[in-house]
Amino acid sequence: MEKIYRIAIDGPSGAGKSTIAKAVAKELDIDYIDTGAMYRAIGYKVWTEKIDPASEAAVKEMLDRTDIDFVGGSILLDGVDVGDKIRTPEMSRMASVCSAIPAVREKLVEIQRGMAARKSVIMDGRDIGTNVLKDAEVKIYLTASAEERADRRFRELQEKGETQTYEEVLEDIRQRDHQDMTRKLNPLQKAEDAVELDTTGMTIDEVVARVKEIAFGK
Ligand code: DC
Repeated sequence: MEKIYRIAIDGPSGAGKSTIAKAVAKELDIDYIDTGAMYRAIGYKVWTEKIDPASEAAVKEMLDRTDIDFVGGSILLDGVDVGDKIRTPEMSRMASVCSAIPAVREKLVEIQRGMAARKSVIMDGRDIGTNVLKDAEVKIYLTASAEERADRRFRELQEKGETQTYEEVLEDIRQRDHQDMTRKLNPLQKAEDAVELDTTGMTIDEVVARVKEIAFGK
């Protein structure tokens, strides 16, 4: 049997985690698990069902009848692909709120560990190296300056025809950094044994090559 290996990628919003993880997964022919999409899917359900995120009982009742899975790279919420519903500014906020709820993290972390138990994966998020896959063979902390991350996001939004200004995007990034890094439960932190990779000024191809070097060049 081939040895399985897990690559954990953590870092702040807009550092390029999903673009890089997707490209590396394709090259290595392993599964990519986007844990942010899972928090977004929960946020989407809380929002569509008008559940009060402050009500622990209501959130738990919802979680008990919720199924989250990845099939062929698509995020399925109760069997339905919600990939095109969860990438809005509203769902970014909902995901951030829901990701601070202990019962939500408990359920999603359990699913994430199950997904990585029997096969090689590359998983990205905020707490993969520090919590979900503490024993991952490879851990990378991907970062870039707030200005560069805002610039990348601003360009993406412009291509989609959105009207947010660069200053608004930068402010949003700073707020999300603050929220993700200061929340009580599993905040965004570099794992002690993670390799930090600052991608400011690097192209996607350069980052992918460097990640592969970190993973297999040692
Ligand atoms: O990576 P993203 O922007 O799609 O993540 C959405 C939200 O979920 C973000 O506020 C951080 C949170 N998140 C988390 O707390 N833990 C993870 N492993 C992944 C995402």
